[in-house]
Amino acid sequence: MIKPHGGTLIDKIVSEKERESFKKKAFTLKNIKLNRRQVSDLEMIATGAFSPLEGFMGEEDYRSVVHGMRLASGLIWSIPITLAVEKEEARRLEIGEEIALSDEFGKVLAIMRLEEIYPYDKELEAEKVYWTRDSMHPGVRAVYRQGDILLGGPIDALDLPAHRGFSGYYLQPRQTRRIFAERKWRTIVGFQTRNPVHRAHEYIQKCALEIVDGLFLHPIVGETKSDDVPAHVRMKCYEVLLENYYPKERVVLAINPAAMRYAGPREAIFHAIVRKNYGCTHFIVGRDHAGVGNYYGTYDAQRIFDEFEPEELGIVPLFFEHTFYCKRCGSIASAKTCPHSAGDRIMLSGTKVREMLQEEEIPPLEFTRPEVARILIEGLKKKVPEYSI
Ligand code: ADX
Repeated sequence: MIKPHGGTLIDKIVSEKERESFKKKAFTLKNIKLNRRQVSDLEMIATGAFSPLEGFMGEEDYRSVVHGMRLASGLIWSIPITLAVEKEEARRLEIGEEIALSDEFGKVLAIMRLEEIYPYDKELEAEKVYWTRDSMHPGVRAVYRQGDILLGGPIDALDLPAHRGFSGYYLQPRQTRRIFAERKWRTIVGFQTRNPVHRAHEYIQKCALEIVDGLFLHPIVGETKSDDVPAHVRMKCYEVLLENYYPKERVVLAINPAAMRYAGPREAIFHAIVRKNYGCTHFIVGRDHAGVGNYYGTYDAQRIFDEFEPEELGIVPLFFEHTFYCKRCGSIASAKTCPHSAGDRIMLSGTKVREMLQEEEIPPLEFTRPEVARILIEGLKKKVPEYSI
């Protein structure tokens, strides 16, 4: 089994035995209400998905990550995991004290030992991490909207979000590692997605499945942009596809509670590290991975892997070119395998597909499986409130 990032799978969930006493203590502490993104970060830290992080980053790690894509220890890490609060809130806190962290409804989720309180430069973070200072970028916007002061320190989690509606698909890194071992998979490819699985996604997953033992389909269900397809609708799409078109014994589907940052290249590295913690040995990076708008070049999220030694990262990226259906080839292909011209290829933008679905029009079979299209048409009719930036 592949080692977690940094060598040890972090476990910051208090045992059943300790839980009551931690809970009692939490009520005596100052309390900070977290937003949804912070709650999902807390959960990812607690379960070991963000190993080796044991809490929200202190200043040294933060600066080192923002400027050099490494923790202060030198270990590769590309996205800052911080706890931002407003100045007034920070003023009532003292370094060295313990504080309770609760969700937006006031339920206590964790106790944090407050080791650092420090200011930071949001625009600099935007520039370095997101490669843009533009507040139209959803990841940058989230940074600009958060508080001006960061709190750093380790956490102990007492309670985690319930993830109602996704029952059966909630697996922590410890559990996925056990499942992979039970199935005797030696090589596992992780697939990140925030979209329904269309034919192009299916194709690259199956290409990867030709060379590894198992596929870990790991869609993000944390905060996404408001115009992304809601997670519960996407889950239905994944279910119908797995049921009808995938070899069941070679796939594990589980939700990833993380928030999307849309940080493109930097997020590709981050996504790979997180999947390594879940036990994956390989990770798919296709075109414009975790990108949004025109902020990143089509293959920037692949090129960034050249900046690191493969053994340092530990997980093997599998790069795929932009894939499409070619009418003359009669199959899904990419420029690497298809010699025909653009006119022979079916390529639809996300916006175009959304328009079609909203008009209750089924996109071409070569683009989306009809079972998936039908779920999307139904899903898009209902406006259910979801996590969104
Ligand atoms: S992402 O924000 O999670 O990257 P999405 O769910 O669309 O968005 O993509 C999931 C993975 O599939 C990413 O690695 C992405 O690069 C890849 N991908 C999506 N569409 C294509 C395509 N047509 N050709 C090649 N790779 C693709």
